[in-house]
Amino acid sequence: MWFQTATFYEIPVHAFYDSNGDGVGDLAGIHEKLDYLEWLGVDCLWLLPFYPSPMADGGYDVSDLTGVAEEFGTLDDLRALLDAIHARGMYAMADVIVNHTSDQHPWFQAARQPGSPSRDWYVWSETPERYGDARVIFVDTQDSNWAWDEVAGAYYWHRFYAEQPDLNFDNPDVREAVKNVVRFWLDMGFDGLRMDAIPYLYEREGTICENLPETHAFLKELRAMIDGEYEDRIMLAEANQLPAEVVAYLGDGDECHMAYHFPVMPPLYMALRREDASDIVTALEATPEIPAGSQWGVFLRNHDELTLEMVTEEDRQFMYEQYAPDPAMRKNIGIRRRLMPLLANERSQFELLHGVLLSLPGSPFLYYGDEIGMGDEYLLRDRDGVRTPMQWKGEPGAGFSTADPDRFYIPLVTDPDYAPEVVNVESQQADEGSLLRWVRTLLADRSRLPVLGNGSFALIDTGDPAVLGYRRTNDEADLTVLANFATTPRVVSLAAPMTEVRTGRSLGETIELPGHAFSWLAEHTGAI
Ligand code: NOJ
Repeated sequence: MWFQTATFYEIPVHAFYDSNGDGVGDLAGIHEKLDYLEWLGVDCLWLLPFYPSPMADGGYDVSDLTGVAEEFGTLDDLRALLDAIHARGMYAMADVIVNHTSDQHPWFQAARQPGSPSRDWYVWSETPERYGDARVIFVDTQDSNWAWDEVAGAYYWHRFYAEQPDLNFDNPDVREAVKNVVRFWLDMGFDGLRMDAIPYLYEREGTICENLPETHAFLKELRAMIDGEYEDRIMLAEANQLPAEVVAYLGDGDECHMAYHFPVMPPLYMALRREDASDIVTALEATPEIPAGSQWGVFLRNHDELTLEMVTEEDRQFMYEQYAPDPAMRKNIGIRRRLMPLLANERSQFELLHGVLLSLPGSPFLYYGDEIGMGDEYLLRDRDGVRTPMQWKGEPGAGFSTADPDRFYIPLVTDPDYAPEVVNVESQQADEGSLLRWVRTLLADRSRLPVLGNGSFALIDTGDPAVLGYRRTNDEADLTVLANFATTPRVVSLAAPMTEVRTGRSLGETIELPGHAFSWLAEHTGAI
């Protein structure tokens, strides 16, 4: 159950640290930075796709599902990295991207040949009319889920870029091949697998081609295989869906171990600007119970746009007005900005959201660079603006690479408020009062409170819509969390005299929360 109390940290391999001076981050670079990650106090490193890829979709277009991209290193580098991660008592997670492959994958190249015996490894049609009820996801660049292939003389199905044909899960050979991909990475030593784009595995006419029973059945089969052949490995569902549909990916404890809690993410941002936590309460009330032995993954930001696909039209417009006033900040149905710029560089908002994120039911996922308040370059292609090189030092090249910055795979942030001279690890490590040091302390506090990972959850009515309140309880601890989403101070009555667990401050029966403040509290008699 390590994943129930772990903190996850998301790393795009090309963005973290370049060990060989070619301008691209690599596996050996992550290896060199393990001291930092251990010092920070994260438990599980989620490595974004490191597979050979033409990079039409940031590496989610894979041309070899069991290889390592040359610019990132070798399988041996990966083995060495995994050993080093495990030697520190940490865990590692990889993406399994099997809804689709790259169109350069040998499977697709074979399938498209006229008369190919493996034609039905992918999904073909003579007309682009089939499965017309399925939505297009990458609305900025795709107007159909079908693309014409000259060689095959047919249309093929793709839920993402046209360079990413969908595999045909009705074909038993595909299912077997996918199982072997999963085995390959578990044999390599990964502790967890993030199942990318999992709602879209199967297609059926007359449906939206998402969350189909066949998809759940296959995931259960995969889970049974993993449980039967391995110990202590987990599957995480990436399913950007409404609460009832997301929770289905946890099955009855027999499907994925974890699922991202997409539904609660946009409300955290809405609450800040509305100075009213009701949207968060609504999202949490709509969240069904999850089976024992499973866990949510909660997050504020990741390598994608801040998705607004599942919110109402009114909330979407509100989010755009508040957080993406420049249309260039919008991508598909979402916002391609990083956390700190979304929060107008205001530390109190950052702290508030982390105080909530790290105490909500679920295991938190942090996005590299957010711990130092990195900025973005939203004018860059696609979502590259939130994937810029990690800022280690305040020098040209940001301590990311010795290559000429002109050769970096993605340029550094140039915005003067967020440039490496202003925002970097080195200066924040040296400064006791820095954001980085604050995040590190909060992570350490959290790791002393397993109740935040495995405790039950109950909302509290604080009597003030601006103040979110809830309790986390297990056999050892009973923790109360209060979070003030208003900019002005609020006074909240407590059920009993309490102690602030992070500061040791003793309180009577009320607490005054300054604007954008949060507090983790326990009754004086509590064991914490
Ligand atoms: C979800 C990934 O997070 C995203 O980056 C990618 O574009 C799609 N899945 C397609 O693989």
